[in-house]
Amino acid sequence: MPNSPSDPPRRITVQRQGPMLVEGPVEIELEDGTTVSSDRFRVALCTCRRSRRYPWCDTSHRARSSGPGDGPAGGTEGRRPGAES
Ligand code: FES
Repeated sequence: MPNSPSDPPRRITVQRQGPMLVEGPVEIELEDGTTVSSDRFRVALCTCRRSRRYPWCDTSHRARSSGPGDGPAGGTEGRRPGAES
Protein backbone atom coordinates (compact mmCIF):
# COMPACT_ATOMS: atom_id res chain seq x y z
CA MET A 1 0.00 0.00 0.00
CA PRO A 2 1.31 3.45 -0.77
CA ASN A 3 2.44 5.26 2.35
CA SER A 4 5.16 7.56 1.08
CA PRO A 5 4.53 11.09 -0.27
CA SER A 6 6.34 10.01 -3.43
CA ASP A 7 3.80 7.26 -4.06
CA PRO A 8 1.13 8.18 -6.59
CA PRO A 9 -2.30 8.98 -5.20
CA ARG A 10 -4.74 6.12 -5.05
CA ARG A 11 -7.42 6.46 -7.70
CA ILE A 12 -11.07 6.05 -6.78
CA THR A 13 -13.65 6.05 -9.55
CA VAL A 14 -17.16 7.13 -8.63
CA GLN A 15 -20.01 5.92 -10.77
CA ARG A 16 -23.50 7.36 -10.73
CA GLN A 17 -25.21 3.98 -10.56
CA GLY A 18 -22.91 1.29 -9.36
CA PRO A 19 -19.98 0.54 -7.16
CA MET A 20 -17.08 2.77 -6.26
CA LEU A 21 -13.96 1.43 -7.94
CA VAL A 22 -10.84 1.63 -5.80
CA GLU A 23 -7.32 0.73 -6.81
CA GLY A 24 -6.08 -2.09 -4.63
CA PRO A 25 -4.80 -3.44 -2.45
CA VAL A 26 -7.27 -2.19 0.13
CA GLU A 27 -8.11 -2.74 3.76
CA ILE A 28 -11.58 -1.60 4.79
CA GLU A 29 -12.79 -1.05 8.31
CA LEU A 30 -16.49 -1.78 8.65
CA GLU A 31 -18.97 -0.14 10.98
CA ASP A 32 -18.59 -2.91 13.54
CA GLY A 33 -14.82 -2.42 13.67
CA THR A 34 -13.92 -5.53 11.73
CA THR A 35 -11.68 -5.24 8.72
CA VAL A 36 -11.70 -6.91 5.35
CA SER A 37 -8.95 -6.74 2.79
CA SER A 38 -8.28 -7.44 -0.84
CA ASP A 39 -5.05 -7.47 -2.79
CA ARG A 40 -6.79 -7.20 -6.16
CA PHE A 41 -5.66 -4.63 -8.70
CA ARG A 42 -9.04 -2.91 -8.44
CA VAL A 43 -11.97 -3.58 -6.16
CA ALA A 44 -15.62 -2.60 -6.50
CA LEU A 45 -17.13 -1.28 -3.26
CA CYS A 46 -20.88 -1.45 -2.90
CA THR A 47 -22.57 1.93 -2.54
CA CYS A 48 -26.18 0.71 -2.74
CA ARG A 49 -26.04 -1.55 0.36
CA ARG A 50 -27.81 -4.36 -1.46
CA SER A 51 -24.80 -6.60 -1.91
CA ARG A 52 -24.86 -9.94 -0.15
CA ARG A 53 -21.08 -9.68 -0.04
CA TYR A 54 -20.94 -6.14 1.40
CA PRO A 55 -18.67 -4.16 1.29
CA TRP A 56 -17.85 -5.78 -2.06
CA CYS A 57 -20.19 -5.19 -4.97
CA ASP A 58 -21.91 -8.37 -6.18
CA THR A 59 -23.82 -6.56 -8.98
CA SER A 60 -27.08 -6.53 -6.99
CA HIS A 61 -27.31 -2.81 -7.81
CA ARG A 62 -28.25 -3.77 -11.36
CA ALA A 63 -31.63 -5.08 -10.21
CA ARG A 64 -32.92 -1.59 -9.56
CA SER A 65 -31.05 0.30 -12.29
CA SER A 66 -33.23 0.66 -15.34
CA GLY A 67 -31.22 3.37 -17.02
CA PRO A 68 -29.90 6.89 -16.71
CA GLY A 69 -31.91 9.29 -14.61
CA ASP A 70 -33.53 6.85 -12.21
CA GLY A 71 -31.66 8.28 -9.24
CA PRO A 72 -28.20 8.14 -7.76
CA ALA A 73 -26.73 4.94 -6.41
CA GLY A 74 -26.11 4.92 -2.71
CA GLY A 75 -29.38 6.56 -1.76
CA THR A 76 -31.87 5.19 0.69
CA GLU A 77 -34.62 4.38 -1.79
CA GLY A 78 -35.01 0.69 -2.50
CA ARG A 79 -33.07 -0.31 0.57
CA ARG A 80 -34.17 -3.61 2.01
CA PRO A 81 -34.69 -3.90 5.76
CA GLY A 82 -31.76 -5.65 7.32
CA ALA A 83 -29.63 -5.29 4.20
CA GLU A 84 -26.99 -3.38 6.08
CA SER A 85 -24.26 -5.46 7.61
S1 FES B 1 -23.13 -1.17 -5.81
FE1 FES B 1 -23.13 -3.12 -6.69
S2 FES B 1 -24.22 -4.33 -5.30
FE2 FES B 1 -24.23 -2.38 -4.40
